[in-house]
Amino acid sequence: MTFDRAKQILEKHGQGHVLRFWDALDAGERAHLLDQIAGLDFASVARMQALLTSKAVAVPASEPTAPEVVELTPDARAKAYAAGEAEIRAGRVAVLLVAGGQGSRLGYDGPKGAYAIGPVTGRPLFFFHARKIVALCRRYGVRIPFYVMTSDVNDAATRSYFEEQNYFGLDRNDVIFFVQGMWPALDAKGRIILDRPGHIFMSPDGHGGTLTALAKHGCLEDMERRGITSVFYFQVDNPMVEIADPAFIGLHMSRRADISLKLCAKRDAKEGLGVVVEREGRCEMVEYTELTDEQAHRRTAAGELYFKYGSVAIHVFSFAFMKAEADKALPLHIAHKKIPVCADDGTAVKPEKNNGYKFEKFIFDVLPDAKTVVNLAFDREEEFSPVKNASGSDSPATCKRDMQAKWLRWFKRAGIQMPAHACGVSALPLEIDPAYALDVTDLKKKGIALTGE
Ligand code: UD1
Repeated sequence: MTFDRAKQILEKHGQGHVLRFWDALDAGERAHLLDQIAGLDFASVARMQALLTSKAVAVPASEPTAPEVVELTPDARAKAYAAGEAEIRAGRVAVLLVAGGQGSRLGYDGPKGAYAIGPVTGRPLFFFHARKIVALCRRYGVRIPFYVMTSDVNDAATRSYFEEQNYFGLDRNDVIFFVQGMWPALDAKGRIILDRPGHIFMSPDGHGGTLTALAKHGCLEDMERRGITSVFYFQVDNPMVEIADPAFIGLHMSRRADISLKLCAKRDAKEGLGVVVEREGRCEMVEYTELTDEQAHRRTAAGELYFKYGSVAIHVFSFAFMKAEADKALPLHIAHKKIPVCADDGTAVKPEKNNGYKFEKFIFDVLPDAKTVVNLAFDREEEFSPVKNASGSDSPATCKRDMQAKWLRWFKRAGIQMPAHACGVSALPLEIDPAYALDVTDLKKKGIALTGE
Protein backbone atom coordinates (compact mmCIF):
# COMPACT_ATOMS: atom_id res chain seq x y z
CA MET A 1 0.00 0.00 0.00
CA THR A 2 1.32 3.43 -0.93
CA PHE A 3 0.86 6.63 1.07
CA ASP A 4 -1.44 8.08 -1.62
CA ARG A 5 -3.64 5.00 -1.67
CA ALA A 6 -3.83 4.92 2.15
CA LYS A 7 -4.77 8.62 2.24
CA GLN A 8 -7.47 8.08 -0.37
CA ILE A 9 -9.02 5.14 1.49
CA LEU A 10 -8.88 6.82 4.87
CA GLU A 11 -10.40 10.04 3.60
CA LYS A 12 -13.16 8.14 1.88
CA HIS A 13 -14.09 6.67 5.28
CA GLY A 14 -13.69 9.91 7.22
CA GLN A 15 -10.50 8.68 8.94
CA GLY A 16 -7.92 11.03 7.40
CA HIS A 17 -6.59 11.96 10.87
CA VAL A 18 -4.80 8.56 11.03
CA LEU A 19 -2.03 10.03 8.85
CA ARG A 20 -1.69 13.32 10.71
CA PHE A 21 1.77 12.54 12.10
CA TRP A 22 3.10 11.12 8.82
CA ASP A 23 5.79 13.75 8.33
CA ALA A 24 7.32 12.98 11.73
CA LEU A 25 7.50 9.20 11.21
CA ASP A 26 10.65 7.30 10.27
CA ALA A 27 10.71 4.75 7.44
CA GLY A 28 9.98 1.78 9.69
CA GLU A 29 7.03 3.48 11.37
CA ARG A 30 5.63 4.55 8.02
CA ALA A 31 5.82 1.01 6.63
CA HIS A 32 4.14 -0.40 9.73
CA LEU A 33 1.36 2.15 9.67
CA LEU A 34 0.67 1.45 5.99
CA ASP A 35 0.46 -2.27 6.85
CA GLN A 36 -2.02 -1.53 9.60
CA ILE A 37 -4.14 0.58 7.26
CA ALA A 38 -4.09 -2.16 4.61
CA GLY A 39 -5.43 -4.60 7.21
CA LEU A 40 -8.34 -2.42 8.38
CA ASP A 41 -11.76 -3.89 7.80
CA PHE A 42 -13.77 -0.80 6.91
CA ALA A 43 -17.04 -2.69 6.56
CA SER A 44 -16.76 -3.63 10.25
CA VAL A 45 -15.67 -0.10 11.18
CA ALA A 46 -18.84 1.18 9.53
CA ARG A 47 -20.91 -1.25 11.63
CA MET A 48 -19.09 -0.06 14.75
CA GLN A 49 -19.85 3.57 13.91
CA ALA A 50 -23.49 2.73 13.29
CA LEU A 51 -23.72 1.01 16.67
CA LEU A 52 -22.02 3.94 18.35
CA THR A 53 -24.22 6.60 16.87
CA SER A 54 -27.55 4.76 16.82
CA LYS A 55 -27.81 4.84 20.63
CA ALA A 56 -30.71 2.49 20.02
CA VAL A 57 -30.91 -0.32 22.52
CA ALA A 58 -32.31 -3.31 20.67
CA VAL A 59 -35.61 -4.20 22.27
CA PRO A 60 -36.07 -7.97 22.16
CA ALA A 61 -39.33 -9.00 20.58
CA SER A 62 -40.44 -11.21 23.45
CA GLU A 63 -39.51 -12.32 26.95
CA PRO A 64 -36.94 -15.12 27.09
CA THR A 65 -37.75 -18.40 28.75
CA ALA A 66 -35.47 -21.04 30.25
CA PRO A 67 -34.48 -23.71 27.69
CA GLU A 68 -34.70 -27.48 28.02
CA VAL A 69 -31.62 -28.82 29.80
CA VAL A 70 -30.69 -32.51 29.56
CA GLU A 71 -29.63 -34.35 32.70
CA LEU A 72 -28.27 -37.72 31.63
CA THR A 73 -29.33 -40.79 33.60
CA PRO A 74 -26.53 -43.35 34.09
CA ASP A 75 -27.97 -45.50 31.29
CA ALA A 76 -28.34 -42.61 28.88
CA ARG A 77 -24.83 -41.47 29.76
CA ALA A 78 -23.37 -44.91 29.03
CA LYS A 79 -25.12 -45.01 25.66
CA ALA A 80 -24.00 -41.48 24.74
CA TYR A 81 -20.48 -42.28 25.93
CA ALA A 82 -20.21 -45.29 23.64
CA ALA A 83 -21.50 -43.26 20.66
CA GLY A 84 -19.01 -40.48 21.40
CA GLU A 85 -16.14 -42.93 21.72
CA ALA A 86 -16.99 -44.38 18.29
CA GLU A 87 -16.88 -40.86 16.82
CA ILE A 88 -13.49 -40.14 18.39
CA ARG A 89 -12.07 -43.52 17.42
CA ALA A 90 -13.12 -42.93 13.82
CA GLY A 91 -10.99 -39.76 13.79
CA ARG A 92 -13.95 -37.47 13.24
CA VAL A 93 -13.42 -35.22 16.28
CA ALA A 94 -11.27 -32.07 16.39
CA VAL A 95 -10.43 -29.93 19.40
CA LEU A 96 -10.55 -26.14 19.24
CA LEU A 97 -9.11 -23.87 21.91
CA VAL A 98 -9.71 -20.12 21.97
CA ALA A 99 -6.67 -18.47 23.51
CA GLY A 100 -6.49 -15.09 21.83
CA GLY A 101 -7.66 -13.06 24.83
CA GLN A 102 -5.45 -10.77 26.87
CA GLY A 103 -5.96 -12.16 30.38
CA SER A 104 -6.09 -8.61 31.73
CA ARG A 105 -8.18 -9.48 34.82
CA LEU A 106 -5.56 -12.02 35.89
CA GLY A 107 -2.85 -9.40 35.38
CA TYR A 108 -0.57 -11.95 33.70
CA ASP A 109 1.78 -10.66 31.07
CA GLY A 110 2.03 -13.42 28.50
CA PRO A 111 -0.23 -15.98 26.83
CA LYS A 112 -2.73 -16.98 29.50
CA GLY A 113 -2.16 -20.64 28.65
CA ALA A 114 1.44 -20.31 29.90
CA TYR A 115 0.18 -19.39 33.36
CA ALA A 116 1.49 -21.85 36.01
CA ILE A 117 -1.40 -23.79 37.53
CA GLY A 118 -0.08 -27.28 38.44
CA PRO A 119 -0.33 -27.39 42.25
CA VAL A 120 2.92 -29.38 42.54
CA THR A 121 4.93 -28.71 39.39
CA GLY A 122 3.64 -25.29 38.38
CA ARG A 123 2.90 -26.67 34.94
CA PRO A 124 0.89 -24.29 32.77
CA LEU A 125 -2.74 -24.31 31.68
CA PHE A 126 -1.64 -25.40 28.19
CA PHE A 127 -0.01 -28.49 29.70
CA PHE A 128 -3.27 -29.76 31.19
CA HIS A 129 -5.12 -29.20 27.92
CA ALA A 130 -2.49 -30.71 25.64
CA ARG A 131 -1.83 -33.76 27.83
CA LYS A 132 -5.52 -34.68 27.76
CA ILE A 133 -5.33 -34.77 23.99
CA VAL A 134 -2.16 -36.88 24.21
CA ALA A 135 -4.10 -39.33 26.41
CA LEU A 136 -7.11 -39.38 24.06
CA CYS A 137 -4.93 -40.02 21.00
CA ARG A 138 -3.30 -42.96 22.80
CA ARG A 139 -6.53 -44.35 24.17
CA TYR A 140 -8.37 -44.30 20.85
CA GLY A 141 -5.39 -44.85 18.55
CA VAL A 142 -6.17 -41.72 16.50
CA ARG A 143 -4.79 -38.36 15.52
CA ILE A 144 -6.86 -35.60 17.03
CA PRO A 145 -6.14 -32.22 15.47
CA PHE A 146 -5.79 -29.42 18.00
CA TYR A 147 -6.60 -25.96 16.61
CA VAL A 148 -5.38 -23.13 18.82
CA MET A 149 -6.66 -19.63 18.20
CA THR A 150 -4.23 -16.87 19.12
CA SER A 151 -4.21 -13.16 18.41
CA ASP A 152 -1.51 -10.68 17.41
CA VAL A 153 -1.16 -9.99 21.12
CA ASN A 154 0.16 -13.48 21.88
CA ASP A 155 0.63 -15.47 18.66
CA ALA A 156 4.44 -15.49 18.51
CA ALA A 157 4.77 -16.12 22.25
CA THR A 158 2.24 -18.99 22.12
CA ARG A 159 3.94 -20.71 19.21
CA SER A 160 7.39 -20.45 20.74
CA TYR A 161 6.05 -21.65 24.08
CA PHE A 162 4.66 -24.82 22.48
CA GLU A 163 7.93 -25.26 20.61
CA GLU A 164 9.98 -24.88 23.82
CA GLN A 165 7.75 -27.39 25.58
CA ASN A 166 8.08 -29.84 22.69
CA TYR A 167 4.33 -29.54 22.09
CA PHE A 168 3.75 -31.26 25.45
CA GLY A 169 4.11 -34.61 23.67
CA LEU A 170 1.61 -33.91 20.90
CA ASP A 171 2.47 -34.50 17.27
CA ARG A 172 3.38 -31.00 16.08
CA ASN A 173 1.68 -31.67 12.73
CA ASP A 174 -1.60 -31.94 14.58
CA VAL A 175 -1.25 -28.65 16.48
CA ILE A 176 -2.55 -25.89 14.24
CA PHE A 177 -2.24 -22.29 15.36
CA PHE A 178 -4.35 -19.65 13.68
CA VAL A 179 -4.61 -15.95 14.41
CA GLN A 180 -7.87 -14.15 14.97
CA GLY A 181 -8.62 -10.70 13.59
CA MET A 182 -7.79 -7.41 15.29
CA TRP A 183 -10.03 -4.37 15.33
CA PRO A 184 -9.36 -0.71 15.98
CA ALA A 185 -11.08 1.15 18.80
CA LEU A 186 -13.14 4.29 18.17
CA ASP A 187 -13.53 7.55 20.06
CA ALA A 188 -16.99 8.97 20.79
CA LYS A 189 -17.05 10.57 17.34
CA GLY A 190 -16.37 7.25 15.61
CA ARG A 191 -12.75 8.06 14.79
CA ILE A 192 -10.06 5.39 14.85
CA ILE A 193 -7.77 5.88 17.86
CA LEU A 194 -3.99 6.17 17.49
CA ASP A 195 -1.99 5.20 20.57
CA ARG A 196 1.30 6.43 19.08
CA PRO A 197 1.92 8.85 16.23
CA GLY A 198 2.46 6.04 13.73
CA HIS A 199 0.34 3.37 15.32
CA ILE A 200 -3.35 2.45 15.41
CA PHE A 201 -4.53 0.95 18.69
CA MET A 202 -5.83 -2.56 17.88
CA SER A 203 -7.33 -5.32 20.00
CA PRO A 204 -8.65 -8.85 19.30
CA ASP A 205 -12.07 -8.99 17.65
CA GLY A 206 -13.52 -11.36 20.26
CA HIS A 207 -13.92 -15.13 20.12
CA GLY A 208 -16.72 -14.54 17.64
CA GLY A 209 -13.80 -14.01 15.25
CA THR A 210 -13.04 -17.74 15.49
CA LEU A 211 -15.10 -18.86 12.52
CA THR A 212 -13.84 -16.15 10.16
CA ALA A 213 -10.28 -16.86 11.27
CA LEU A 214 -10.69 -20.63 10.81
CA ALA A 215 -11.89 -20.02 7.27
CA LYS A 216 -9.25 -17.39 6.48
CA HIS A 217 -6.34 -19.57 7.60
CA GLY A 218 -7.46 -22.73 5.78
CA CYS A 219 -8.43 -24.57 8.98
CA LEU A 220 -11.93 -25.42 7.75
CA GLU A 221 -10.39 -26.99 4.67
CA ASP A 222 -7.94 -28.84 6.88
CA MET A 223 -10.81 -30.16 8.98
CA GLU A 224 -12.65 -31.24 5.86
CA ARG A 225 -9.58 -33.06 4.54
CA ARG A 226 -9.27 -34.89 7.83
CA GLY A 227 -12.93 -35.93 7.76
CA ILE A 228 -13.90 -33.99 10.90
CA THR A 229 -17.61 -33.93 11.73
CA SER A 230 -17.61 -32.65 15.33
CA VAL A 231 -15.53 -29.87 16.84
CA PHE A 232 -15.05 -29.70 20.60
CA TYR A 233 -14.63 -26.03 21.66
CA PHE A 234 -13.29 -24.68 24.95
CA GLN A 235 -11.57 -21.71 26.63
CA VAL A 236 -8.00 -21.51 27.87
CA ASP A 237 -8.81 -20.60 31.47
CA ASN A 238 -10.36 -23.86 32.70
CA PRO A 239 -7.86 -26.70 33.28
CA MET A 240 -10.63 -28.99 34.57
CA VAL A 241 -12.40 -29.18 31.20
CA GLU A 242 -13.02 -32.75 30.07
CA ILE A 243 -11.75 -32.37 26.55
CA ALA A 244 -13.78 -34.25 23.93
CA ASP A 245 -15.96 -35.77 26.66
CA PRO A 246 -17.39 -38.81 24.80
CA ALA A 247 -20.80 -38.58 26.51
CA PHE A 248 -21.17 -34.95 25.42
CA ILE A 249 -20.12 -35.73 21.86
CA GLY A 250 -22.33 -38.81 21.73
CA LEU A 251 -25.38 -36.86 22.92
CA HIS A 252 -24.65 -34.12 20.38
CA MET A 253 -24.44 -36.74 17.60
CA SER A 254 -27.55 -38.64 18.60
CA ARG A 255 -29.63 -35.45 18.63
CA ARG A 256 -28.08 -34.32 15.33
CA ALA A 257 -27.40 -30.99 16.97
CA ASP A 258 -25.77 -27.99 15.32
CA ILE A 259 -24.35 -26.88 18.65
CA SER A 260 -24.30 -28.44 22.10
CA LEU A 261 -23.45 -26.57 25.27
CA LYS A 262 -22.43 -27.66 28.73
CA LEU A 263 -24.28 -25.80 31.44
CA CYS A 264 -23.87 -25.85 35.19
CA ALA A 265 -26.01 -24.54 38.02
CA LYS A 266 -24.88 -21.01 38.83
CA ARG A 267 -23.30 -20.43 42.25
CA ASP A 268 -25.58 -17.45 42.76
CA ALA A 269 -27.87 -15.20 40.78
CA LYS A 270 -25.10 -12.83 39.73
CA GLU A 271 -22.32 -15.28 38.85
CA GLY A 272 -20.49 -14.12 35.71
CA LEU A 273 -21.72 -16.82 33.36
CA GLY A 274 -23.69 -16.38 30.17
CA VAL A 275 -27.24 -17.76 30.30
CA VAL A 276 -28.83 -19.73 27.47
CA VAL A 277 -32.43 -18.66 26.92
CA GLU A 278 -35.11 -19.51 24.43
CA ARG A 279 -36.99 -16.91 22.46
CA GLU A 280 -39.53 -17.77 19.79
CA GLY A 281 -38.31 -21.32 19.50
CA ARG A 282 -34.63 -20.40 19.10
CA CYS A 283 -31.84 -20.47 21.62
CA GLU A 284 -29.67 -17.47 22.36
CA MET A 285 -27.11 -16.49 24.95
CA VAL A 286 -27.66 -13.57 27.27
CA GLU A 287 -24.24 -12.54 28.51
CA TYR A 288 -24.05 -11.99 32.28
CA THR A 289 -23.42 -8.30 31.73
CA GLU A 290 -26.67 -8.07 29.79
CA LEU A 291 -28.97 -10.11 32.06
CA THR A 292 -31.34 -7.75 33.88
CA ASP A 293 -31.48 -7.83 37.69
CA GLU A 294 -35.02 -9.12 37.50
CA GLN A 295 -33.98 -11.96 35.16
CA ALA A 296 -30.94 -12.83 37.26
CA HIS A 297 -32.96 -13.04 40.49
CA ARG A 298 -36.20 -14.49 39.13
CA ARG A 299 -37.25 -17.65 40.99
CA THR A 300 -39.57 -20.54 40.29
CA ALA A 301 -42.47 -21.42 42.61
CA ALA A 302 -40.12 -23.98 44.19
CA GLY A 303 -37.65 -21.20 45.03
CA GLU A 304 -34.96 -22.15 42.48
CA LEU A 305 -33.40 -19.57 40.18
CA TYR A 306 -35.50 -19.51 37.01
CA PHE A 307 -32.39 -18.99 34.86
CA LYS A 308 -30.55 -21.51 36.94
CA TYR A 309 -27.87 -22.61 34.50
CA GLY A 310 -24.81 -20.80 33.23
CA SER A 311 -22.75 -21.60 30.15
CA VAL A 312 -19.12 -22.43 30.76
CA ALA A 313 -18.16 -21.99 27.12
CA ILE A 314 -17.69 -25.72 26.48
CA HIS A 315 -19.38 -26.58 23.22
CA VAL A 316 -19.55 -29.13 20.46
CA PHE A 317 -20.18 -27.76 16.98
CA SER A 318 -21.17 -29.86 14.03
CA PHE A 319 -18.58 -29.14 11.36
CA ALA A 320 -21.28 -28.52 8.74
CA PHE A 321 -22.89 -25.83 10.89
CA MET A 322 -19.56 -24.22 11.65
CA LYS A 323 -18.72 -24.02 7.99
CA ALA A 324 -22.11 -22.60 7.09
CA GLU A 325 -21.74 -19.89 9.75
CA ALA A 326 -18.20 -18.87 8.82
CA ASP A 327 -19.13 -16.04 6.51
CA LYS A 328 -22.00 -14.62 8.58
CA ALA A 329 -21.51 -11.18 10.11
CA LEU A 330 -22.08 -11.67 13.82
CA PRO A 331 -23.52 -8.82 15.91
CA LEU A 332 -21.09 -6.45 17.58
CA HIS A 333 -20.78 -5.93 21.32
CA ILE A 334 -19.47 -2.61 22.54
CA ALA A 335 -17.41 -1.84 25.66
CA HIS A 336 -16.49 1.61 26.97
CA LYS A 337 -12.81 1.39 28.01
CA LYS A 338 -9.67 3.29 28.92
CA ILE A 339 -7.65 3.30 25.72
CA PRO A 340 -4.13 4.71 25.44
CA VAL A 341 -4.16 7.64 23.05
CA CYS A 342 -1.74 9.90 21.32
CA ALA A 343 -2.22 13.60 22.09
CA ASP A 344 -2.04 16.26 19.38
CA ASP A 345 1.61 16.92 20.23
CA GLY A 346 2.39 13.22 19.67
CA THR A 347 2.84 12.27 23.33
CA ALA A 348 1.29 9.05 24.61
CA VAL A 349 -1.47 9.54 27.20
CA LYS A 350 -2.82 6.91 29.59
CA PRO A 351 -6.38 8.05 30.28
CA GLU A 352 -7.83 8.12 33.80
CA LYS A 353 -11.41 7.63 32.57
CA ASN A 354 -13.02 5.56 29.86
CA ASN A 355 -12.34 7.43 26.66
CA GLY A 356 -13.07 5.07 23.81
CA TYR A 357 -14.94 2.05 22.58
CA LYS A 358 -13.78 -1.47 21.85
CA PHE A 359 -15.88 -3.88 19.84
CA GLU A 360 -16.06 -7.66 19.95
CA LYS A 361 -17.98 -10.53 18.41
CA PHE A 362 -19.07 -13.47 20.52
CA ILE A 363 -19.10 -17.04 19.18
CA PHE A 364 -22.36 -17.87 20.92
CA ASP A 365 -24.19 -15.34 18.73
CA VAL A 366 -24.43 -18.13 16.14
CA LEU A 367 -26.95 -19.85 18.44
CA PRO A 368 -30.14 -18.38 16.93
CA ASP A 369 -29.12 -19.85 13.55
CA ALA A 370 -28.91 -23.37 14.98
CA LYS A 371 -31.87 -25.63 14.26
CA THR A 372 -31.04 -28.00 17.07
CA VAL A 373 -29.26 -27.01 20.26
CA VAL A 374 -28.56 -29.44 23.08
CA ASN A 375 -27.94 -28.10 26.58
CA LEU A 376 -26.29 -30.66 28.82
CA ALA A 377 -26.17 -30.15 32.58
CA PHE A 378 -22.95 -31.20 34.28
CA ASP A 379 -21.46 -31.20 37.72
CA ARG A 380 -19.23 -28.15 38.05
CA GLU A 381 -16.98 -29.61 40.72
CA GLU A 382 -15.85 -32.20 38.17
CA GLU A 383 -15.23 -29.96 35.20
CA PHE A 384 -15.20 -26.24 35.85
CA SER A 385 -12.92 -24.03 37.87
CA PRO A 386 -11.63 -21.21 35.70
CA VAL A 387 -8.68 -18.94 36.35
CA LYS A 388 -10.03 -15.47 35.74
CA ASN A 389 -9.05 -13.23 38.65
CA ALA A 390 -5.74 -12.80 40.47
CA SER A 391 -7.40 -13.47 43.84
CA GLY A 392 -10.79 -14.32 45.35
CA SER A 393 -13.26 -16.42 43.37
CA ASP A 394 -12.19 -18.03 40.07
CA SER A 395 -8.55 -17.42 40.89
CA PRO A 396 -5.42 -19.62 40.74
CA ALA A 397 -5.98 -20.50 44.42
CA THR A 398 -9.55 -21.75 43.96
CA CYS A 399 -8.60 -23.56 40.76
CA LYS A 400 -5.72 -25.45 42.41
CA ARG A 401 -7.99 -26.30 45.33
CA ASP A 402 -10.67 -27.67 42.99
CA MET A 403 -8.22 -29.65 40.85
CA GLN A 404 -6.75 -31.30 43.92
CA ALA A 405 -10.19 -32.07 45.37
CA LYS A 406 -11.10 -33.81 42.12
CA TRP A 407 -7.90 -35.86 42.10
CA LEU A 408 -8.43 -36.79 45.71
CA ARG A 409 -11.92 -38.10 44.82
CA TRP A 410 -10.31 -40.15 42.02
CA PHE A 411 -7.86 -41.72 44.44
CA LYS A 412 -10.70 -42.55 46.80
CA ARG A 413 -12.80 -44.10 44.04
CA ALA A 414 -9.77 -46.01 42.77
CA GLY A 415 -9.35 -47.46 46.27
CA ILE A 416 -5.99 -45.76 46.79
CA GLN A 417 -5.48 -44.36 50.29
CA MET A 418 -4.30 -40.77 50.39
CA PRO A 419 -3.79 -38.68 53.50
CA ALA A 420 -6.59 -36.15 53.84
CA HIS A 421 -7.79 -33.69 56.48
CA ALA A 422 -11.11 -34.30 58.19
CA CYS A 423 -12.72 -31.65 55.95
CA GLY A 424 -11.85 -33.80 52.92
CA VAL A 425 -8.96 -31.66 51.65
CA SER A 426 -5.82 -33.53 50.65
CA ALA A 427 -3.07 -33.39 53.25
CA LEU A 428 -0.45 -33.47 50.48
CA PRO A 429 -0.21 -31.35 47.36
CA LEU A 430 -1.61 -33.46 44.50
CA GLU A 431 -1.16 -33.35 40.78
CA ILE A 432 -1.83 -35.87 38.04
CA ASP A 433 -0.49 -35.56 34.51
CA PRO A 434 -3.55 -36.26 32.32
CA ALA A 435 -1.39 -38.39 30.04
CA TYR A 436 -0.66 -40.62 33.06
CA ALA A 437 -4.32 -40.90 34.06
CA LEU A 438 -7.09 -39.20 32.12
CA ASP A 439 -9.77 -40.40 34.49
CA VAL A 440 -10.45 -42.66 37.42
CA THR A 441 -10.42 -45.77 35.23
CA ASP A 442 -6.84 -45.02 34.18
CA LEU A 443 -5.88 -44.27 37.75
CA LYS A 444 -7.35 -47.56 38.92
CA LYS A 445 -5.11 -49.41 36.48
CA LYS A 446 -2.07 -47.49 37.68
CA GLY A 447 -3.09 -47.98 41.28
CA ILE A 448 -3.24 -51.71 40.82
CA ALA A 449 0.21 -51.65 39.26
CA LEU A 450 1.56 -49.47 42.07
CA THR A 451 0.25 -51.59 44.90
CA GLY A 452 0.91 -54.86 43.13
CA GLU A 453 -2.66 -56.07 43.80
C1 UD1 B 1 -16.74 -16.07 29.17
C2 UD1 B 1 -18.08 -16.04 28.44
C3 UD1 B 1 -19.22 -16.35 29.39
C4 UD1 B 1 -18.96 -17.69 30.04
C5 UD1 B 1 -17.63 -17.67 30.78
C6 UD1 B 1 -17.29 -19.07 31.29
C7 UD1 B 1 -17.61 -14.28 26.84
C8 UD1 B 1 -17.96 -12.96 26.29
N1 UD1 B 1 -18.27 -14.72 27.87
O1 UD1 B 1 -16.68 -14.95 30.00
O2 UD1 B 1 -20.46 -16.40 28.66
O3 UD1 B 1 -20.01 -17.96 30.94
O4 UD1 B 1 -16.57 -17.29 29.89
O5 UD1 B 1 -16.04 -19.11 31.87
O6 UD1 B 1 -16.78 -14.97 26.31
N2 UD1 B 1 -10.82 -14.98 23.73
C9 UD1 B 1 -10.20 -15.02 22.51
N3 UD1 B 1 -10.21 -13.90 21.76
C10 UD1 B 1 -10.81 -12.74 22.16
C11 UD1 B 1 -11.45 -12.71 23.41
C12 UD1 B 1 -11.43 -13.85 24.18
O7 UD1 B 1 -9.64 -16.05 22.12
O8 UD1 B 1 -10.78 -11.77 21.40
C13 UD1 B 1 -10.79 -16.19 24.56
C14 UD1 B 1 -9.95 -16.02 25.80
O9 UD1 B 1 -8.59 -16.32 25.53
C15 UD1 B 1 -10.61 -17.01 26.72
C16 UD1 B 1 -12.08 -16.95 26.31
O10 UD1 B 1 -12.11 -16.44 25.01
O11 UD1 B 1 -10.14 -18.32 26.50
C17 UD1 B 1 -13.00 -16.18 27.25
O12 UD1 B 1 -12.69 -14.84 27.29
P1 UD1 B 1 -12.97 -13.95 28.57
O13 UD1 B 1 -12.91 -12.54 28.15
O14 UD1 B 1 -12.10 -14.39 29.67
O15 UD1 B 1 -14.52 -14.28 28.91
P2 UD1 B 1 -15.32 -14.18 30.30
O16 UD1 B 1 -15.72 -12.77 30.56
O17 UD1 B 1 -14.58 -14.86 31.36
